[in-house]
Amino acid sequence: MLRLDERRLLGALDELASLGAIEGGGCARLALTDEDKAGRDLVVGWMKALGLAVTVDAIGNVIGVRAGTENLAPVMTGSHIDTVRTGGRYDGNYGVLAGLEVVRALNEAGVTTHRPLAVAVFTNEEGARFQPDMMGSLVYVGGLGLNEAYAAADKDGASVGDELRRIGYLGPTKPGAVKPHAFVELHIEQGPILDEEKVQIGVVESVQGISWTEYTVTGVSNHAGTTPMRLRRDAGYLAASVNLFARKLAWEMGGDQVATVGSLALRPNLINVVPNRAVFSVDLRNTDEAKLKEAEARVAAHIAEVAKAERVEVEAKVLARFEPVIFDAGLVDRVEHHAKALSLSTRRMPSGAGHDAQMMQRLCPTAMIFVPSVAGLSHNVKEHTEAADLAAGAQVLLNLMLELADEEAG
Ligand code: GLV
Ligand code: MN
Ligand code: MN
Repeated sequence: MLRLDERRLLGALDELASLGAIEGGGCARLALTDEDKAGRDLVVGWMKALGLAVTVDAIGNVIGVRAGTENLAPVMTGSHIDTVRTGGRYDGNYGVLAGLEVVRALNEAGVTTHRPLAVAVFTNEEGARFQPDMMGSLVYVGGLGLNEAYAAADKDGASVGDELRRIGYLGPTKPGAVKPHAFVELHIEQGPILDEEKVQIGVVESVQGISWTEYTVTGVSNHAGTTPMRLRRDAGYLAASVNLFARKLAWEMGGDQVATVGSLALRPNLINVVPNRAVFSVDLRNTDEAKLKEAEARVAAHIAEVAKAERVEVEAKVLARFEPVIFDAGLVDRVEHHAKALSLSTRRMPSGAGHDAQMMQRLCPTAMIFVPSVAGLSHNVKEHTEAADLAAGAQVLLNLMLELADEEAG
């Protein structure tokens, strides 16, 4: 069996993590920043050194293709290398670099597959700077128009179009020009399940639905000492109330429902002034679309009720909304098969995080392979996966890609 070189994979992860490195061992490579450009340049250099034909499309997705003996649709893997501002070194990066190690292993063994292989780096998966998340893969599958994506702006008003141009990654290729035979994304779990249960490989069957809304609340600022409670129109109060409500709602609904207020800004943000403005986000997720809709409706009803009582105005802006996604059953079975064939323990599970694979499922049969995250930490500088687990996941990817690359039609 062709073996993947674990030490080289770890070395590549270290080198990429040195770009945008932050205290504690993590990374800050927000999409389309100088740090993201540096990461992209490094990965593109590696792709070229491996002999891949590299294209950059109009949303900045980078696709490296290794030719097969036949000019058929390629077997594609990949993920993203942008991070949240306080990110770890594995989220996304692992899937991309493992893909490159698959190519390296084949190059060194002198193996040419029947179908081409492709490794993709998708733009702005995180959605931490520009929304929606999974932007590059969403455009790739035709779910978002280029002009709409270009117009997305960060909190300082910089747009995706301008930033792509600035860092030199607004490429000439049409997104989605390459329609894969299959897409397989290798990723860390980013949650506690595999680590708690001491299971080596997560066989991902689905991705939960995601609902991101930004609320802007307008009240009246006034003196904190002189304004009686009955006269307040406190924008911060509504934000705080929604945070508490969302937590209670998630507990009450149970199951897979999660709810987060991850971003909150008050104005004027002073100790002795009632806030006249609050801008906050609500992130709701559920594997069940009906339940996700219920959570959205209940949050909206709570906001309407508090806004009326507090006499504040609320504007809601949907930043991202994706229904739950079910992966290709046959491909999911094959992930499990290849893990078991390597004597690795497996568990079927949904993904709690969003992934480029959930968009690619619209285009071709898609599946994901998860490896454990120590203590379930992710979007945290302490994000960690043991070397043996990283190697095991990459080996499953290699074996599955080889099998898929041998397939004829379909
Ligand atoms: C994106 O990676 C998300 O799940 O928040
Ligand atoms: Mn990710
Ligand atoms: Mn992430």
